[in-house]
Amino acid sequence: MATERRALPMLEALAPSPTFGRPAIQPDDQRVGEYRPEAPALPRFAIWTLGCQMNRSDSEEMAGRLLSAGCDEAAGFDDADLIVINTCAIREAAEQKVIGRQGQLAKLKAARPGLRVVLTGCSVREPDRAGLRRRYPAVDLFLRPDEEPELIDRLGLASAQAAIGTGTTTRVGRTVVGAADHLADSRAAALAGGSIRRESATSAWLPIVYGCDKTCTYCIVPFSRGPERSRPFDEIVAEARSLAAAGYREVTLLGQNVNSYGHDLPVDPRFAGIAPERSVGRHQDRHGRPDLAELLRAIDGLRTSDGQPAIPRLRFVTSHPWDLSDRLISAMADCPSVCEHLHLPVQSGDDAVLRRMGRQYTIDHYLERLARIREAVPGIAISTDVIVGFCGETEAQFEATLGLLEAVRYDQVFAAAYSVRPGTPATHMADDVPSADKRRRLNELLARQESIGFERNRSRVGTTAQVLVESIVPSRSHEHEATPAVEDAPKDGSVHLTGRSRAHTLVHLEGRAELVGRLVDVRIEHAGPYSLRGALA
Ligand code: SAH
Ligand code: SF4
Ligand code: F3S
Repeated sequence: MATERRALPMLEALAPSPTFGRPAIQPDDQRVGEYRPEAPALPRFAIWTLGCQMNRSDSEEMAGRLLSAGCDEAAGFDDADLIVINTCAIREAAEQKVIGRQGQLAKLKAARPGLRVVLTGCSVREPDRAGLRRRYPAVDLFLRPDEEPELIDRLGLASAQAAIGTGTTTRVGRTVVGAADHLADSRAAALAGGSIRRESATSAWLPIVYGCDKTCTYCIVPFSRGPERSRPFDEIVAEARSLAAAGYREVTLLGQNVNSYGHDLPVDPRFAGIAPERSVGRHQDRHGRPDLAELLRAIDGLRTSDGQPAIPRLRFVTSHPWDLSDRLISAMADCPSVCEHLHLPVQSGDDAVLRRMGRQYTIDHYLERLARIREAVPGIAISTDVIVGFCGETEAQFEATLGLLEAVRYDQVFAAAYSVRPGTPATHMADDVPSADKRRRLNELLARQESIGFERNRSRVGTTAQVLVESIVPSRSHEHEATPAVEDAPKDGSVHLTGRSRAHTLVHLEGRAELVGRLVDVRIEHAGPYSLRGALA
């Protein structure tokens, strides 16, 4: 039966009710056509995802729910009946990207009156709905990140039995935010129903903890995503097991701070031996609860019949230096599947700036943790995040950050100029570094890191790296610095491929298209500041 598409109802004004949803159509169910000629339309959807891996993972869940409800995916905005925008609020520029598209969306809606736009993700913060309507006039329905599991119901696409309004709220500072209490259960239900549309068939995101309990003064995330909620240990291991069975080669455990995983879970006799202690930051009683170290060991412990890790590559982001425990460092060293890469955001190289940022560690402490991990996992690649131009940052304090980069010699640095986020504690400090200075500092820092990254990459020339091949680069696309010149393009039917080493460095190589999704050994021949090039070994 051909299901015609019709307009979705305007929903934001309607309180969701259990009787509002109508049964989803199964596309080939003849009875539906026979008895329900007025069956509700199933929209073709497009999802635009901004921001971090957590958003990408959330979008996989939303896409899966829409597909399970019987909707099709549109090729793009132009042929969609439903546009879902999964926003990022980390900096003003990220929000402006979406605000700047409102005109285009309004035009699309004028041309196609059936089109509906849903806005979700970190820009949707509870106290802000009136402001949201002003900033995003083309949007019909706003969902906080913790309300995303309700997408289908709120659109009237789900069965009448589906639970609605599972979200609870709590306070972070003076702000009311979604508590994310139910997200672990929603994830479990989505997994049980097979309704997660993964972006890749080889590399998977696996959320382990939602929200953030830290109080970094510049950061919007605790206000968008609420307090930390860990998923139950066994559910995570079960998801990893199913990913292994489905042939996934790489799994990345996700959370704003994966290192604090488990502190909010009930005490469990299986973990009686665990008593990790924080060396900095607020005290937490973690006794008898699972932690990330235990989780890495359990997932690494999933083995094939020949004793190899069933998931050959295990990663996790992001780690806060507070919780980089000795237990975690030992687990990283002991587990062969855990990749030799750690993303450890430092934010600034100056203690006074760190104090104003509320990071609650000193550079000495950070360097002590780094030394520990480098000793335990020799050659480990380290990446970081830096904010330049935070409130009150002097030239000398900025120089201290450059000095830190020189001292640590990061493999990769993600840097940004400080951007004031409404409602965060730092709004009470003066944003007094002129934007021209922020820009200059950012450029200076990126230039400095470029030569450090180049040197780090050059040191890998001549080695053999295991690469997980991720994609085919369209021919004559040479925007990356370590690619061969066009004249060198392969002639034997092979294509340009890219993938990542265990150190998470981008690697270019040539080979057959069938290598996508496979782990291969690559002899590294050339280095650039941001990538490597090599040949199949
Ligand atoms: N949970 C992670 C970070 C998530 S946000 C952690 O704490 O490590 C990713 C990065 O965005 C941060 O590390 C920080 O460098 C940057 N960031 C956060 N808020 C910002 C702001 N207001 N202005 C500029 N950069 C910011
Ligand atoms: Fe933001 Fe800090 Fe939490 Fe990271 S740890 S998400 S920077 S509050
Ligand atoms: Fe952005 Fe939210 Fe991630 S603010 S960085 S999408 S947690």
